[in-house]
Amino acid sequence: MPKQIAAANWKMNLTFKEAQNLLNEFKIRDFNLSENQLVILAVPFPYLNLATEILGNKTQFFISAQDVSAHDKGAYTGEVSAAMLQSLSIKYVLVGHSERREYHNENALLLLQKLKQALANNLQPIFCCGEPLAIREAGKQNEYVTQQLKEVLFEINKEEIKNIIIAYEPIWAIGTGKTASSEQAREIHEQIRGVLISMYGEHVANDISILYGGSVKGSNAAELFAKQDVDGGLVGGASLDAEDFSKIINSLQA
Ligand code: PGA
Repeated sequence: MPKQIAAANWKMNLTFKEAQNLLNEFKIRDFNLSENQLVILAVPFPYLNLATEILGNKTQFFISAQDVSAHDKGAYTGEVSAAMLQSLSIKYVLVGHSERREYHNENALLLLQKLKQALANNLQPIFCCGEPLAIREAGKQNEYVTQQLKEVLFEINKEEIKNIIIAYEPIWAIGTGKTASSEQAREIHEQIRGVLISMYGEHVANDISILYGGSVKGSNAAELFAKQDVDGGLVGGASLDAEDFSKIINSLQA
């Protein structure tokens, strides 16, 4: 069974004080999470330790980085290595978010190197994929996303893929308030599951969590998460609001 996951992507938001307040909000709230349900908070690098200090002991809560270097170590000014994240006890990292693909020209080869770095340092990558509006309008989303998965996962073996979480985030739904309908999400998640089955077999593929991202809110999370193959969400805007993100956490399926 795949884990059911509510993942927050804070992106480049919040000052230190604001981050501290939000983390403390989650610390004091009670969530009735089972062993199969996780909350993962992808916070900016400067707040990783703060988040671990505040939530490190909270059951089923984990901290994630939003990016990782494709390199091991050395003269790469501004980069953060997977080994550094591991040394901070970080367990997860986002790889291939559409904003990084677009604004930082991250291509398939680079994303594969990042995945390899993460896996080699015991980090679980949350690998993002998703089509732009023009592709959706042309009805070519399945082919597009299949290609995004295949071109990066081609060198990831069966053992490694078990540690990867997939996040499907249609670009036209990110930060726009336009959510994919729960049926659109179900359809493409089923397609993604099919690709994973063809690459790694049913046994392995059926355990991989596939999250939906793109304007997930407290008001639509339950309907999305109730769909077959939608194993939770990757949430941007709404994850900055304690009340709304708590509602999303509470929408995780049993
Ligand atoms: P959003 O962002 O929830 O603000 O649409 C999702 C994401 O980019 O991960």
